[in-house]
Amino acid sequence: MDARVKSDSFDVVASSFDLGHWAARRQQEVERALEHWVNADPREGLDHGAPAELVRAMRYSVLDGGKRLRPLLVLAAGESVHGHSAAALRAACAVELIHAYSLVHDDMPCMDNDVLRRGKPTVHVQFGEATALLAGDALQALAFELLTPDDGTVPEATQAALCRLLARAAGSAGMAGGQAIDLASVGCTLNEKQLRDMHELKTGALLQGSVLMGAACGRTSPRQLDALIAFGAAIGLAFQVVDDILDVTTDSVTLGKTAGKDAMAAKPTYVSVLGLERSAQYAQELLATALTALERGEFHQTDALRALAHMVVNRSH
Ligand code: IPE
Ligand code: IPE
Ligand code: MG
Ligand code: MG
Ligand code: MG
Repeated sequence: MDARVKSDSFDVVASSFDLGHWAARRQQEVERALEHWVNADPREGLDHGAPAELVRAMRYSVLDGGKRLRPLLVLAAGESVHGHSAAALRAACAVELIHAYSLVHDDMPCMDNDVLRRGKPTVHVQFGEATALLAGDALQALAFELLTPDDGTVPEATQAALCRLLARAAGSAGMAGGQAIDLASVGCTLNEKQLRDMHELKTGALLQGSVLMGAACGRTSPRQLDALIAFGAAIGLAFQVVDDILDVTTDSVTLGKTAGKDAMAAKPTYVSVLGLERSAQYAQELLATALTALERGEFHQTDALRALAHMVVNRSH
């Protein structure tokens, strides 16, 4: 039975599971935690003693915006394996901090040179390039600080597993590596395999990493882990296919970022390589792959993961 699920961020057709309801409470928890941890006042949250302007730029880039898809994937995967909830909340926030840092740097003049993000001027426009660069650096560091509390709330083996997964997803074999390929590909014609490799790294790795971090907060059988790896890979790639589509089909106000940038910047995308129709079809195929993979894990609860997969592919922004 299908039902329309609607909230600020979600407008998708999914199962009768109420994603909007499920997500609202978790998004609130994530917002509260981020507000607490990305904090200028050393008496509150983490005492990183950073200069006020830098912390203002960090807060500007993280708070009040974004679909929070990656945190929701962490929490949904964590719930599917009955994961440790304090660890999952930290992992959810850590991955969002890495994502926010990647956006700050992605928008800078040396990369995509964008002036609009989440409906606001980009961080370098608002604070200057040097502060934007440092805000990204500091957000990355803060992500790993969040994963390693010394108060006994998260088992040390879990801390290490989470750090390993996040570092891997963000580094040269993941997001940063994909961004390097993206920049080197401007004006080039990529074949489908090269394009897929680039998208899997620049965007897919962090989404797949979100799923695996959630899983690392609990116990998984080898079969379940394989299922989540395949699920994460499929929705991770699908996410960037849809991002490429939305850049062409959707206006800047809806997106909260400048539409039409990819063609303007001569970026190879799924739309430029496959065309709109075939790209949309491919995104649906990836959704089917993701859902089939999930079934193989024989989890007792996958409603949220399934609904998030639908949201990744059928979102409007
Ligand atoms: C945008 O990600 C950047 C890409 C990886 C394509 P999102 O579309 O998740 O951005 P926010 O977090 O909702 O702003
Ligand atoms: C960005 O891809 C991927 C990141 C690692 C941030 P895009 O450059 O397509 O993201 P948008 O369209 O600017 O959000
Ligand atoms: Mg980019
Ligand atoms: Mg960009
Ligand atoms: Mg894009």
